Amino acid sequence: MISSRPSPRLLFGDGESRLLGVFGDPIAHSLSPKIHNLSLAYWDLNYRYLPFRVRPKNLEQALFGFRALGGVGFNATIPHKEALLPFMDQLSLTAKKVGAVNTVSIGPEGQFIGDNTDTYGFITVLKKQVSTVLEDKNILVLGAGGACRAVLVALLDEGCQHILLANRTRERAETLANHFSHGDPAKISTIPLDFTSLPLEEVDIIVNTTSLGLHGHDEFPLPAHRLPSHALLYDIVYSTQGTPLKRLAQKHRLTFVDGLDMLIHQAALAFKIWTGRDMPVEWVKGQLSNPGTKNE
Ligand code: ATR
Repeated sequence: MISSRPSPRLLFGDGESRLLGVFGDPIAHSLSPKIHNLSLAYWDLNYRYLPFRVRPKNLEQALFGFRALGGVGFNATIPHKEALLPFMDQLSLTAKKVGAVNTVSIGPEGQFIGDNTDTYGFITVLKKQVSTVLEDKNILVLGAGGACRAVLVALLDEGCQHILLANRTRERAETLANHFSHGDPAKISTIPLDFTSLPLEEVDIIVNTTSLGLHGHDEFPLPAHRLPSHALLYDIVYSTQGTPLKRLAQKHRLTFVDGLDMLIHQAALAFKIWTGRDMPVEWVKGQLSNPGTKNE
């Protein structure tokens, strides 16, 4: 466990230091370096986890360069999760199902092993909040972009049978629904993203996977007064300033699940894959919310 003073090898590195990181573009906003380096320090593990701004055109070079430097593994975020697929020598079942990789390990023969820990992060946090079975819940998923894929795989794996998918571009929702429900409209049905006509009175859980409200809009346009009082709002988007959906949930006293929890739990599984250790999740959360810890 972490001591009051990090050891010199943790501060400065040495010939034994092992390399981890995250590839993304942009990457400056990412909390992953903080989450992983805190956990590495907690266990006094001689690794470094660095953010790498990798432009899409340089992804292949970055991948092989990272391996050449002796890297152990890395996370991938926007815009690389799907682009990494063809470079992987092995893929976990989850990464195959989602069609995206967010965790890469370099195997003993230098092989690239792709996994997806977003599904685990998403469902672990949801199951902590919902004590009864998820199968029978009416779940409304907003958005049908890349981030939605892991959510749908996780919900279907959990046996959920009443998923409504609403997206601004309806065809995108239909394509995803057909793909993941294998054409069974009973599992996932699509509806237009028209906030005035969404069947909110029937909904138990809303999962937001859109970037709605994050770019200059102040409010999330959901008429939350129509939701039942037990409804749970889950924003997989996170912001250290709080998201528009979080503010809406607080205003209407609805249970809210923060995307930051999902981020920490997906990181915990990646950490376990690379180091074999359990991430001290609650301790990391406490460190991140400590006012003395700067998150940007
Ligand atoms: P990601 O990979 O992070 O999911 P994305 O593929 O760009 O990002 O998807 C963003 C999602 O937010 C999409 O579902 C998008 O809707 P469209 O498919 O119609 O583009 C949704 N989105 C973004 N801005 C939105 C807005 N102002 N209103 C409604 N939906 C929005």
